[in-house]
Amino acid sequence: MNAGAASEAQLQAARELLAQSARVAVFSGAGLSADSGLPTFRDPATDALWARYDPTELASAAGFAANPQLVIDWYNWRRGRYAAVAPNAAHRALAAQAGLVQITQNVDHLLEQAGAAAERVLHLHGSILYDRCHDGGCDYREAVEPGMPQPLRACPRCGAPLRPAVVWFGESLPMDVWHRAQRLCENVDCLLVIGTSATVYPAAGLIALARECGSRIVVVDPNPSAASDVADAFVRGAAAEVVPALLDGLELVSNPD
Ligand code: APR
Repeated sequence: MNAGAASEAQLQAARELLAQSARVAVFSGAGLSADSGLPTFRDPATDALWARYDPTELASAAGFAANPQLVIDWYNWRRGRYAAVAPNAAHRALAAQAGLVQITQNVDHLLEQAGAAAERVLHLHGSILYDRCHDGGCDYREAVEPGMPQPLRACPRCGAPLRPAVVWFGESLPMDVWHRAQRLCENVDCLLVIGTSATVYPAAGLIALARECGSRIVVVDPNPSAASDVADAFVRGAAAEVVPALLDGLELVSNPD
């Protein structure tokens, strides 16, 4: 297996942990989509977004209030990038595991595009394929065409501005999705962590929660991270190279019943 820096031994150790686990879940971040050509937020090797842009200006309610057009333009740019890429081999290998539930911080739908059932992908940080009303009291939401730039516009129901249905810094996660993710991490034997720096909370807290509940942690990342620091097996390599080999021939499930 040519998996970059990943050694055969790292891979075998991780495969053994997965193979002996009755219940497995996946927790992923921007690194999962890096091999599709999308930048991560913090990894300098991937033209990281937060190295080039100010998250308080572009991914916060205060930033949106200060300059809504700037935020809308930036998300139109990001949507254009998403529309131009396709799932990579890691998305496809994960989607092929029909019994797995994927907890992701990613707002792209590359897992679903690769064939994962939508109800088995938990988007903790929302979705870039929808706009929603900015007024927390109004639950208006509409799907947007990824490649089509969206104008700054008002909610047809209450008149407040519409904004991307992603979770900005300082905002709460969608509670139903968060609770499902917590329940899952409390009940798995192994959590497969792919391409996240595990530095953004509360999402990153799922790793500690799973460990506290007795789960093993398998990490895939080309770089050491807060997740690899607590891993039982760390496969150092790119997701698109490592994940297909890691899951090859295994049939993993999240809820055996
Ligand atoms: N394959 C696997 N992992 C990769 C790859 C790759 N090809 N390339 C980079 N990585 C790893 C990096 O080493 C890093 O550990 O992916 C991780 C990306 O980390 P971040 O950029 O911090 O992304 P993420 O952890 O998803 O960020 C969490 O922060 O900005 C917010 O809401 C945003 O959901 C996001 C959250």
